[in-house]
Amino acid sequence: MTMKMDRRSALLLVGGSLLAGAASSGAAATSKQTKAEKFLWGSAGAAYQIEGGNYASDLWVMEHTKPSIFKDPSGDAVDAYNRVNEDIALAASLGFNTHRFSIEWSRIEPERGRISNAAIAYYRRVLETIRKHGMTPFVTFNHFTTPRWFAAAGGFETRDGIEPFVNYCSLIARELGDLIGIAATFNEPNLGALVSWSPAIRPLRPHIVAARELARTSIGAAKWSPPMLSDFRIQQPIMIEAHNRAYDAIKQASAGRFPVGVTLSLNDERGSAEAIARKQGEVMLPWLAANGDYIGVQNYTYSVVEGESDLPPERGIELTQMGYPFAPEALEGVIRAVARHSNRPIYVTENGVATEDDTRRVAFIDRAVAGVSACLCDGIDVRGYIHWSLLDNWEWVAGFGPKFGLVSVDRTTFVRTAKPSAHHLGRMARRGSPPG
Ligand code: BGC
Repeated sequence: MTMKMDRRSALLLVGGSLLAGAASSGAAATSKQTKAEKFLWGSAGAAYQIEGGNYASDLWVMEHTKPSIFKDPSGDAVDAYNRVNEDIALAASLGFNTHRFSIEWSRIEPERGRISNAAIAYYRRVLETIRKHGMTPFVTFNHFTTPRWFAAAGGFETRDGIEPFVNYCSLIARELGDLIGIAATFNEPNLGALVSWSPAIRPLRPHIVAARELARTSIGAAKWSPPMLSDFRIQQPIMIEAHNRAYDAIKQASAGRFPVGVTLSLNDERGSAEAIARKQGEVMLPWLAANGDYIGVQNYTYSVVEGESDLPPERGIELTQMGYPFAPEALEGVIRAVARHSNRPIYVTENGVATEDDTRRVAFIDRAVAGVSACLCDGIDVRGYIHWSLLDNWEWVAGFGPKFGLVSVDRTTFVRTAKPSAHHLGRMARRGSPPG
């Protein structure tokens, strides 16, 4: 449900305090969020992509098989584990008021049932640092990677995966919940469903299956199901149940002190209404029906869907380093699509572009944020814009090639340098209002 407002009011709401309860009604979250809340501006990262040295994780195994489907091993990544204070201070100095990061489960529980108190203390210090800088910590409990023992036990391709995940979430909420601002159980658990529509990904399936098998034999495991590379048809219903139970466990362990939800990978879908409905029915709707106080929207591009598949990008259009269309306007389409199907508050938890040309990132930000502004004008309850990513980092199978960062990182010295786009988004955050 939405409430229309004029453009000026929308800008003022974004600029100052957002009377969250007034802009939306009925959703579970809104009952608790009637107090004035600030629109969140920030950037995101994920532990495995930036920390370095996550030896106990499932993907570490897969990066070190010969051959490997990963272009580069993550190795030291961008050494954020040792530079986290500097990175948080940088984000705050740019003008952001939130910082999204993930906790690496394989650091917390490197062997099943063996908890690392040092790792818990580490993430407590991360949270304290974010708080010290006056920012809201937006915490992802699981951003793709899992401990290798979990993948070797069948991951989320078996219902046996639910309990260990729920226990891990409950532990984090108990130990760290007093400092968490907003939580997401999973990052993009629908990604497998989304990419299964892509004509570029379909031919890669046999290679993924072979890579999983190679990793399994390389460590002599009976099974090998890293959730990032598992069969989404088997995994999705199990992950939904894991999420629902983790939601309840986090609420219970933290006495409901912060909103809990899930972040979804969504393209702006174009094509016939029937084809879009079929795709959204598989990729988006099952997750919108899951437990949650908000919906985290993550968008990078659009797709044109025909029948049971996306079409390849049109010829001659601008593509990003990831090979998909440069499409900042897609964000507005995705927010509107979610708002048509859900009355929960929306946070943009990821949006960005892989490019070496930072002027294109500046243009992307302006056009994407204008879309957020238009949604606010129409009364859609959007509560934040979090850019992917703070740092140039390790981009999964693509290795260190694609540059999503607002901040570049020297691959040898790890020295960070803010790009003009970082200051650009920071100025917007300080002003607190998106451009007209
Ligand atoms: C993921 C990030 C990734 C980004 C850019 C999202 O799907 O959450 O981990 O780096 O997209 O590809």
